[in-house]
Amino acid sequence: MKTLSATWRSPSNIAIIKYWGKKQNQIPQNPSLSFTLNECFTETTISLVPKETKSDELQLQFYFDKKENIAFRLRLLNFFSSIQKDFKFLKDYGLVIHSANSFPHSSGIASSASSYSALAAALCDLEVQLKTGKKTSGKVLVEDKKWLKRASVFSRLGSGSACRSLFPYASVWGKSDAVKGSDDEFAIGYEQGLHKEFKTIRDSILIASSNEKKVSSRVGHSLMKGNPYANARYKQAHKNLAELTVALKKGDWEHFGAIAENEAMTLHALMMCSNPSFILMNAHTMSMIESIRNFRESSKVPVYFTLDAGPNVHLLYPSAFQKKVLEFADFELSGLCEDGRMIHDYAGKGAQKVK
Ligand code: PMV
Repeated sequence: MKTLSATWRSPSNIAIIKYWGKKQNQIPQNPSLSFTLNECFTETTISLVPKETKSDELQLQFYFDKKENIAFRLRLLNFFSSIQKDFKFLKDYGLVIHSANSFPHSSGIASSASSYSALAAALCDLEVQLKTGKKTSGKVLVEDKKWLKRASVFSRLGSGSACRSLFPYASVWGKSDAVKGSDDEFAIGYEQGLHKEFKTIRDSILIASSNEKKVSSRVGHSLMKGNPYANARYKQAHKNLAELTVALKKGDWEHFGAIAENEAMTLHALMMCSNPSFILMNAHTMSMIESIRNFRESSKVPVYFTLDAGPNVHLLYPSAFQKKVLEFADFELSGLCEDGRMIHDYAGKGAQKVK
């Protein structure tokens, strides 16, 4: 048997409207919108090999950075067994998976979005190869709406936010009256809703700490169930998304930034008032935020921030201001970063087939 394989590269994404709180099967409690990044990505190869035994049991080897990784393998076995009914070929082949990230493993940057989207893209690519008996073109696949939808659905089942990583520049996941075609089960591309200045948005990630997350997103989402502000939050997300779509269309950075910062602060406030409570920022995060707000006020440079479920700060700004923002970041923020570490990223084209 000829070995069939597919290699996909898929980036991380940064949410402006945050997904926080879910129902069964990774159905979000509210819609979210994110920018697709470019430099922070995962590259994953899935190879189908002959099975060692005839049983239906999954056979899986997993290598991260060329080394066998048992902890990840167990997580993937769970994932694959939950989707085995949807990919019938999984019972006929053994899987050998190789994966690597462009960003350091211990950078405090979540890799679940890039890794599950790369994995789902490779899996859905193999499905087409087996069906047609032909090699596939990545370009043709990503232009096929049905294929993208399927890849997004299975990315979501791996890690919710992963379903947004496949699309160029920006994407929306979760049903919203403000975004036509939006759906709870998969994300859709949002490139057409962006003013040209937002297509070249930059995101400089300030590494306040590279430590493992204090709370997994699985636990974080589940804490929303008992949170007294949950319903108000879901309503706010709908309103913020509707307003954000207008700002993104107009190229209104000020309104965009106000919403981005409000969403970041809300996410962290929700965690602080959950039971148990978590503080995911650290003292450097707070100093960075203060410094960004002071600089914006005095320089009039449109630079804003967002946060993920951790202490690192994402600086968001138009590419036209790159020089000024980088000077400011080097001068005032790098000292607050762990070992001066920053990752300068920007909106990118989404998942791509490597081979
Ligand atoms: O995809 P998950 O389950 O890791 O959740 C991601 C949650 C946030 O990163 C905090 C927000 C988001 O929308 O990406």
